Amino acid sequence: MPQYRQLGTTPAKRHTIHAISGDPNQLSGGYKNEGIYYEEVITTEGFSRAYSIVYHLRPPTRVRRVEFVGTKPIEAAEQGALRHLHLKSSGIAAQGDPITGRVPLLFNSDVVISRCRPSQPQAELYRNAQADELIFVHRGSGVLRTMFGELPFREFDYIVIPKCTTYELCFNQLASSDDPAADLLVVEAIGSLGFPPRYLNPDGQFRLGAPFCERDLHGPASLTPVDSEAPITLCIKDGDHWTRYELANHPFDVVGWDGMVYPYTFNADDFEPITGKIHQPPPIHQTFQASGFVVCTFAPRLLDTHPHAIKVPYAHNNVESDELLYYVRGQFGSRRGVEIGSLTLHPHGIPHGPHPGTIAASMNAKSTDELAVMVDTFRPLKIAKQAASLEDTSYPYSWLD
Ligand SMILES: [Fe+2]
Repeated sequence: MPQYRQLGTTPAKRHTIHAISGDPNQLSGGYKNEGIYYEEVITTEGFSRAYSIVYHLRPPTRVRRVEFVGTKPIEAAEQGALRHLHLKSSGIAAQGDPITGRVPLLFNSDVVISRCRPSQPQAELYRNAQADELIFVHRGSGVLRTMFGELPFREFDYIVIPKCTTYELCFNQLASSDDPAADLLVVEAIGSLGFPPRYLNPDGQFRLGAPFCERDLHGPASLTPVDSEAPITLCIKDGDHWTRYELANHPFDVVGWDGMVYPYTFNADDFEPITGKIHQPPPIHQTFQASGFVVCTFAPRLLDTHPHAIKVPYAHNNVESDELLYYVRGQFGSRRGVEIGSLTLHPHGIPHGPHPGTIAASMNAKSTDELAVMVDTFRPLKIAKQAASLEDTSYPYSWLD
């Protein structure tokens, strides 16, 4: 979880009157002339883990209509042979909005990985009831609007949105058929998504040796409550089930909050790579940890310094792990044939390694400019139907000379 944060006004004691007048003994004004701001406590893992407390202009429970939209299960493709997979997602269509335009490509019971090139502004407020969302902004900038305030985002940001956060993702420029101006990798974490515990000291602060720290995490920058009684719709994704709520007032009517549950950004270029004399294993790139998977950032870095160091990864057999890599920027030293926007999946059960010629080609290299995002899952990933048309079927044979 990110560090404790406070924005706007909160009363001195939790669960006490937050008076509009500033004086708990002088209550008047506001909703139903009760004279108070309405407290909502957002908790995680029941009441056991991090929480935030927010204060609304109106109770957050005012619903006018509930409508079941339907189920949208992810359809699995014919899985076929156990094989290395290369999906060329750089050509996916610009379509839909930041929610409806998502194209699920790989999934299991812990995670869903989608690509999205939104061409329209978000049509309705949205909430994911079961999954924390990690949105990697490959291209684009804008602002995430939630009840916690406005969170600006930019290219190469990871945006972390805790489950049950109602949001609107607004881009400065949307994608079109000839311009991928808004381009996202979306990772839904069914369990809680946080930082590797080994990065934190017993006091909860990032250790000096961790590859980033509190200064690199950016929470909502400003808070302006939306005071509107106009009904507004909210779409809730609850696993495969979608429900539409008509709320009696705008839910971003918060005057203040504090706590440790809120959306935040971390920019991949703020990752501080750990380098060594010889090749360092993938966990040094780890950025996030969730139930059943980890997320790593392969950021530009100096390469190994031993005079005989092999500067690309050794062939490895990732037992009990599926390794998904999304290529963002630069030249990836160990791979041939991948392009920006490619996804490679190196599954459990079969080894993979550097492509022929890349060991020799890397010997005199002093640094790499590659930027890639890796999702390593501990349960096998399934291939979604939409991924089938993106597959480069020659990839399993690409290690031949
Ligand atoms: Fe690997």
